[in-house]
Order: sequence, then structure tokens, then C-alpha cells
Amino acid sequence: MAHCAAFPSPVIFDVITIFPDFFTSILEHGVLKRGRASGQVEIRIHDLRNFSDDRHRTVDDRPFGGGPGMVFKPEPIFRALEALKAESPEEKFRVVLLSPQGRLLTQAVAEDFSREQHIVLLSARYEGVDERVAEHLATDEISIGDYVLPGGELAAAVVMEAVTRLLPGVLGNEESREQDSFAGAESGSRGAARGILDCPHYTRPAEFRGWPVPEVLLSGNHEEVRRWRRRQALEKTWRKRPDLLSNLPLSKEDAKLLEEIRQAALEPTR
Ligand code: ADE
Repeated sequence: MAHCAAFPSPVIFDVITIFPDFFTSILEHGVLKRGRASGQVEIRIHDLRNFSDDRHRTVDDRPFGGGPGMVFKPEPIFRALEALKAESPEEKFRVVLLSPQGRLLTQAVAEDFSREQHIVLLSARYEGVDERVAEHLATDEISIGDYVLPGGELAAAVVMEAVTRLLPGVLGNEESREQDSFAGAESGSRGAARGILDCPHYTRPAEFRGWPVPEVLLSGNHEEVRRWRRRQALEKTWRKRPDLLSNLPLSKEDAKLLEEIRQAALEPTR
């Protein structure tokens, strides 16, 4: 079990990159800083060039078959992984290659990773890695979106933030995690918002530049507030991401709220 309450051991992220300094600032902010300070995560950044075998510290080469750009050679990456595995021979590793060819990072993927003990993140640059890394070393290939970044470092940081905030105690407020957009995206989870977008949030002042906060939020009526938030979350999802609703198991209340939302949309606007 990754997170035993009595003997919590940190989740380890090993990041393999040719730009180790890229992570300096990210590790010193927000959840990654807090998670590291409280011992819930340990993040180790490794310079891939330390695993090259020539004095130029070469990690890339031209693609077979021709074409533009360079490809990360397999040997340094395999060597880096073998060194990590030799340090912890007992441990099970999840080896995540960040690439635009991977499956999309979703909340369900983040939840899955948050149950692991040890995650290696492989960040490539240029035209990517030799395919044998994807085929024979990586356990997962993950993309953070359908666009091409010049490298996987930002994607590795995104994965670490998305996973770390799910670890018990890191956020401080367990409820806020459950109420996020996509919370409980996996079936069987008890997230309040269950795979839909989050409702809007407001804070003081109650009126700003003539724009008032919805009155129900000032009413003190918890049941009305709860119902309003659920309706807003459903409405936002219906308008912006209707695809999310197609697989959503609907409670009686949700079905009724969605019907109200559809009806309201049909009414002529004055
Ligand atoms: N590397 C380059 N583009 C990427 C993306 N969209 N996701 C993950 N890694 C990447």
C-alpha cells in the first residue's frame, strides 16, 4: 500500500531531463514545495547527460531514414533507469514517458499515479526518443494535451503537480480536492463533482464594479447553496464540455437539474 497512515513513506518522482535547472523554481512553490517539506513526496532531478558514455556527453543522434531534427539515443535513458532500479531493487517503478503521442493526462490518470510509490518521468526534447524506449522501457506514455511542446519538462511538472495535490494531507483541505472539476473521475470514487466542471466561486466584496455575487451564496441556506452549486457545475459542463456528460451516471437530482438547464436555454432571451 503506497500510503499507510502509520508509516507514511514519500512518493518518489525521479525526473530524467537534459535541463535539470528547469525544475529549480517549480520545486520551491505551492504543492510541490509543501509536499516535499512534509515528506509526502521526494523529487529527484537527474541530468540525462550524466548517463552518456562519451566526453561530449552526447544524448542524441540523427534519425535513421533521414529527416530533420535529432532523436534521443536509447542507451543513456536505459542506463539512467538501470541506475535507479539498482538503488531500489525491491521497488516497483512506473516509468512515464512524456510525449505528444501518449494517452491524455486526465484526472483518472492522476488518481491512478497517486497510488504509486515510485514514478520515473522521462522528458525528451527535439524529435523525441528512440522508439525502443517507448516500447521496452516506459510503462506509460502520457501527453498533457493535443499540442506539441518543445520538450517534456513542463509536462513532467504538470504530472507532478496533478499527482502531488491528490496525496493525503498535501492540500490541507481534503474537501476542496473532492469538489474540484473532475474530482472522482474514476468510477466508484465519491467526489462531489464526479467528472464534471467545477461551479463558480466568489469571495468578498459582495459587489465589485457593479457586479454582485449571486444572492443565494449570501443566504446562509446550505441546502440551497449546495443545489445552486450543483446546477451551476452541470450548466457549465453542459455549455463548455458536453462530452463529459455523456458518460456521467445521473442521479435523480442531476437529471432534473439538467432538464431545467435545457428548458431555460430554450426560453427566448429578453
Ligand atoms: N512533449 C512535447 N509535447 C508534449 C505534450 N503535449 N505532452 C507531453 N509531452 C510532450
